[in-house]
Amino acid sequence: MTNRFAIILAAGQGTRMKSKLYKVLHPVCGKPMVEHVVDNVSKLTVERTVTVVGHGAELVKSKLLNKSDFVVQEEQLGTAHAVKQAKGILGDEEGTTLVICGDTPLITSETMEALLKHHHEHKAKATVLTAYTDQPDGYGRVIRNAEGLVEKNVEHKDTNEEERKIKEINTGTYCFDNQALFQALEKVSNDNAQGEYYLPDVIEILKNQNEVVSAYQTADFDETMGVNDRVALSEAERIMRKRINEYHMRNGVTIIDPTHTYIDASIRIGSDTIIYPGSIIKGNTTIAEDCQIGPNSELYNAVIGPGSVIQQSVVRESTIGARVDIGPFAHIRPESNIHDEVKIGNFVEIKKAVIGKGSKASHLSYIGDADVGENVNLGCGSITVNYNGKSKSLTKIEDDVFVGCNSNLVAPVTVGKGAYIAAGSTITKDVPGESLSIARARQVNKEDYVKKLNLKN
Ligand code: UD1
Ligand code: CA
Repeated sequence: MTNRFAIILAAGQGTRMKSKLYKVLHPVCGKPMVEHVVDNVSKLTVERTVTVVGHGAELVKSKLLNKSDFVVQEEQLGTAHAVKQAKGILGDEEGTTLVICGDTPLITSETMEALLKHHHEHKAKATVLTAYTDQPDGYGRVIRNAEGLVEKNVEHKDTNEEERKIKEINTGTYCFDNQALFQALEKVSNDNAQGEYYLPDVIEILKNQNEVVSAYQTADFDETMGVNDRVALSEAERIMRKRINEYHMRNGVTIIDPTHTYIDASIRIGSDTIIYPGSIIKGNTTIAEDCQIGPNSELYNAVIGPGSVIQQSVVRESTIGARVDIGPFAHIRPESNIHDEVKIGNFVEIKKAVIGKGSKASHLSYIGDADVGENVNLGCGSITVNYNGKSKSLTKIEDDVFVGCNSNLVAPVTVGKGAYIAAGSTITKDVPGESLSIARARQVNKEDYVKKLNLKN
């Protein structure tokens, strides 16, 4: 098989995004655009992938790490100039080179493969991936001759009135014979409306050398969309979201309303899990089977065990066991580890805490920096007083403890196995196992005192 290489163009600032963040790093469903492109390319068999970086080079590299080699384009003089920067790495190679823009995150590896196939079948030196659209504004137009063969590409800003009406656009993805590409790049000029070296000019240059140039039109314009501004970004997000949600639904996940369910590209979800509307599932989250998520739950880098329910709640960077019931309106903050069959009810905040199997905090509690054992009942209003203004301390609550309502546990403190804390206590000293601890003022009833005060007639 012919050797294959890939060049990904990602050096531009992306002026039209009007952003501090470099264009190709804007996420689509949680993953930077350029990473979508690199990941799709990596599904093909390629010898080497070279990403051309410039604006935000270090940040782009830090996102892609070892997924690609890099070359730096110091000045952004155009897409042809960008590709030329890869000459040092790929210039001597024989084979086929796929060139793709870092701002077209929706092009699938299947379409790239189809383009490569077309290129080889037509024995072409260059093949451009094109698409048909009713809104070609901003895109380069593909000019075909009377026989329907590709002649050249004209950038939107360079089009005349006739050319502007053409609805077949250049998607910015191409296959080239590697040697022909680097030779032709030497001949590209910047004599055009933008004063840039245009990569698509290579098509016309090779055509004029009587080489075979070809175009492969894909049926799905959506896939080829270039993201140049925030309007296109939201459109790309919408298309990607639909793709992701359909993937999960085909895998046995019920998504009640896929248009209002926001699942990042990297998420794994088990079958028979139901996702209710308004749920946002981000980062490296994994959800096991038979769960119910939402409505309106937000999960970020969370691991959710089988059969768990997370209703109208936020879970961040935490692990939730099997058959756990969370919410509505709970907040599970980072580094929490909630074991099987726990119940966390409304208005409960958990932070950096272990909650042992079968324990409950059903209402209005704050449990932070705590190690809670199994079958513990944390009554309504239980609070771990973990912060003295300077440092955080641990509260340890052993198995089978009952914490009465409205109790403060002032850390560092340990409540021994099976102990019972009376409601309204402020516990400042360790409580031995199996004992009852009452730490509140005694109630005094002063009979007939109201009459003595003479407040009533
Ligand atoms: C480009 C094509 C256009 C095509 C469209 C498809 C050119 C001249 N035009 O236009 O025909 O219809 O893509 O989406 O190629 N880049 C660099 N270095 C540079 C310039 C750009 O690395 O000097 C990178 C950008 O980061 C971006 C990609 O190349 O990822 C495309 O550049 P962009 O400015 O978005 O080109 P378009 O105007 O969209
Ligand atoms: Ca673009």
